[in-house]
Amino acid sequence: MFHILLYFWAILPISLWVWASQEHFNTNINDEQLRFEKYSFNRFELKHYRGKVKDLFHFAHDNYLHKGYPYDELRPIACIPKTRNFEDPDDEITNDVLGNFSVTLVDSLTTLAVMNDRPKFAEMIKLIEDTFPNKFDIDSTVQVFETTIRIVGGLISAHLYATDPSKKVYLGEEYKGSLLQLAKDMADRLLPSYLTLTGLPVPRINLRTKFDPITIELVSENNAAAMASPIFEFTMLSYLTLDSKYADVTRYAMNKTWALRSDLQLLSMSFDPQTGQCYSQISGVGASIDSFYEYALKSALLFNDEGLLKIWQDAYNALNTNSRADWFYTNVQSTTGQLQTLWIDSLSAFFPGLQVLAGDVEDAILKHMMALKLWNTFGGLPERWEFQNMAAFEVSRGSNINDLRSLVPLEWYPLRPEFVESTYFLYRATRDPFYLNVGVTILESIETKFKHKCGFGGFQDVTTGEPQDRMETFILSETLKYLYLLFDVDNELHHTRDNVLFSTEAHPMWLTPEVINNYEHNKYFNDTVYKRHLKACHKRDRGSAFNENKRSFVGGKLRRFAKSLFTTDQKPKEDVNQHPKPEFKKELTIDTSSVHEQMCFSMPVGNKDKPEWLHSHILSHFDRLFEIDRRYNSSLIRPEHMKNEVPMEIKRGFYEKWAHDKFSHSRPMPSTESLEIVLDLPGECQLLRLPDGSIHRNTLGGRTKIRLEQIEPGKMDVYGRILNPELFISARRKDLFKSTCDKADKLYTPTLLYRATVLNGIYLPVGANLTINQKTVFKTQSEENTFRNLFGQNSYNQLMLDCIPIINLLMQ
Ligand SMILES: *[C@@H]1O[C@H](CO)[C@@H](O)[C@H](O)[C@H]1NC(C)=O
Ligand SMILES: *[C@@H]1O[C@H](CO)[C@@H](O)[C@H](O)[C@H]1NC(C)=O
Ligand SMILES: *[C@@H]1O[C@H](CO)[C@@H](O)[C@H](O)[C@H]1NC(C)=O
Ligand SMILES: *[C@@H]1O[C@H](CO)[C@@H](O)[C@H](O)[C@H]1NC(C)=O
Ligand SMILES: *[C@@H]1O[C@H](CO)[C@@H](O)[C@H](O)[C@H]1NC(C)=O
Repeated sequence: MFHILLYFWAILPISLWVWASQEHFNTNINDEQLRFEKYSFNRFELKHYRGKVKDLFHFAHDNYLHKGYPYDELRPIACIPKTRNFEDPDDEITNDVLGNFSVTLVDSLTTLAVMNDRPKFAEMIKLIEDTFPNKFDIDSTVQVFETTIRIVGGLISAHLYATDPSKKVYLGEEYKGSLLQLAKDMADRLLPSYLTLTGLPVPRINLRTKFDPITIELVSENNAAAMASPIFEFTMLSYLTLDSKYADVTRYAMNKTWALRSDLQLLSMSFDPQTGQCYSQISGVGASIDSFYEYALKSALLFNDEGLLKIWQDAYNALNTNSRADWFYTNVQSTTGQLQTLWIDSLSAFFPGLQVLAGDVEDAILKHMMALKLWNTFGGLPERWEFQNMAAFEVSRGSNINDLRSLVPLEWYPLRPEFVESTYFLYRATRDPFYLNVGVTILESIETKFKHKCGFGGFQDVTTGEPQDRMETFILSETLKYLYLLFDVDNELHHTRDNVLFSTEAHPMWLTPEVINNYEHNKYFNDTVYKRHLKACHKRDRGSAFNENKRSFVGGKLRRFAKSLFTTDQKPKEDVNQHPKPEFKKELTIDTSSVHEQMCFSMPVGNKDKPEWLHSHILSHFDRLFEIDRRYNSSLIRPEHMKNEVPMEIKRGFYEKWAHDKFSHSRPMPSTESLEIVLDLPGECQLLRLPDGSIHRNTLGGRTKIRLEQIEPGKMDVYGRILNPELFISARRKDLFKSTCDKADKLYTPTLLYRATVLNGIYLPVGANLTINQKTVFKTQSEENTFRNLFGQNSYNQLMLDCIPIINLLMQ
């Protein structure tokens, strides 16, 4: 027995879409922007921009060495070191990253390698060796995740460069492996954080004393990204040292993190690592969960791990079904999939880059566009931005609230790399010069707005343009590295035969066949502490319900340990029920004996035609360039300090060259309305995507979310076309409707039909159908009958909703 729940969800109001062309096109153009007339780049120009980035890097790096080193960071405006808060060890905001271990020096090392600066690279390695004669025997409590990605990752990647004869910065005999020894030393100091009953790491540890001076507050909450992520750096370390404990301990924690997902395959963000109790049931792609996805996919690719690939596929499908919106991913409640917040994080701008890696370039282009619009509006990406401006409603009622601050609940932009990162990946995938132009615009901002006396700093407040006197290490290790690589089209990383993957801190990692082979034959696991630990974890799992099917580890010894925390009505820390429950429409019961694990993936079938985006799609064929401006016109409000800036996509050259082209129009705003229906069914879920964009389903398990457009003659549809009344004339027939609908006369002359436009986050192009194979979808006749009664099917095999045909949802 199982239930079908059919929900009807109203999607976000779309009536606010107003196109603000006037303001943009009246903006003055100055001569400097003439550059944009040229919409291609020759090698000389690319070299010019690459050189600029290199100069900027050296400017800040030299300043750090002279005025910041040996401390962790240099303040770019005050020109003094920014250090750990030595007085207050509990000041985790400062101390998580600043371990008093010269983190800028270590984290920026691979940028020198990427720029082929062999002398400086060798000099810095020498300096690192001199800086840590006692390795990392430092009395600092730091965050395991941050220290892993910046220190362990930075050291391992630099070690790869120094020891790989194919690299320009290869050091040969000169280098004796000190970086790997340091990485191992640090990893050994961090690894005890995994010695919990669950095998999930606590977030912080003291490098010298482990847990001695740590207060419970510092270790009681960890997030999904931090619990899963060290797998990437630690597994690399295992390959290089042959000691598999790093890989095994973190791989176990990855499994365990994923085991905390909901039935919808959505992972929440925040947990108690010692019990697995969920604190916040919000899921999404931004802060606290971002690198969970990143490392599921990247580790799968680098370490050839099918299990991780499955995690990525299931997680990505669940996101696409529940959280994917047209221009970004929303935060949803992990158990219901319902919208939870009206904001998105700046950190989520990395996701398009990951989508490129996963092969979903088409959607990556859309999601990247949102980050671009935020950059246009605020001059950087606000840490958090409200996509729905509640204050605007007040304004429309005559009040004069123009509180920009309410639009950006977290107002800073510390010159984070995620937007450049995605721009780089999209350029590599599309070779579209549009992305080079985005890079040039970012470069100009770095030169004119973010460059200070001694380095670079972002905005303290994007609404005022107030600068931030802080140069986070990711500015040198990521922002400038990705920008350099964008312009350095001939970089050795782009021509190598190795499978290079960037860590979440932009440290390149690769494994040669020799390293892989050596590891597979000679790895060992001799550390009895961790051996016993994993054995105990597995034993607890056997006595509990932690396995692939149940996906929780309630039970066994752990249950006794954490009994009170695992009651079914456990309360999340935050109030996650601030939004109304979906309107419950119908519930029915179907007999079935077999319930399969949900498996939902989209299999593209061979397309002989070249994908269009390989050409300059954005410039010449993308008709949605201004859709975001229109749709979010009330929440993309430019602050005073941005008033005179021309958005990059309408600078003179661009506009003149492309605006009159027959393909280059902005899609008109739709006047139709849309709604979503959600079907939750047990069983397997498989989508087959055909070359024409149609989707075929042989099974109907898992969650199916279909966006339906209500189409009416004369209205503008979501594809930017006026709806043809013909559609309705052919529909004016009795046999279109099932018998139970016949009584309502109005149905013979329908003024409204439905059309499916999105299925589980996959967009259906104009004319595409969604077909369901009735032979394989239903296991029994009664299942089939119940389904038909729920929807209804007309003689054209179209399914119907409340007697209204869904013209492209076909039973076959
Ligand atoms: C922090 O690092 C500096 C420079 O290496 C060192 O002189 C100082 O003793 C360290 N402070 C602490 C509290 O460890
Ligand atoms: C993680 O889960 C996969 C798939 O269930 C399993 O094959 C693998 O052995 C697990 N790894 C560890 C370290 O528990
Ligand atoms: C690990 O243990 C095995 C078996 O006791 C031993 O042969 C091997 O030398 C050890 N390896 C290391 C690196 O300690
Ligand atoms: C949104 O667009 C409308 C129509 O062009 C305009 O009147 C309004 O001022 C815009 N709102 C904002 C906040 O820019
Ligand atoms: C969709 O289905 C209709 C009706 O069966 C058919 O005429 C049309 O060609 C189909 N479209 C595609 C893209 O297969």
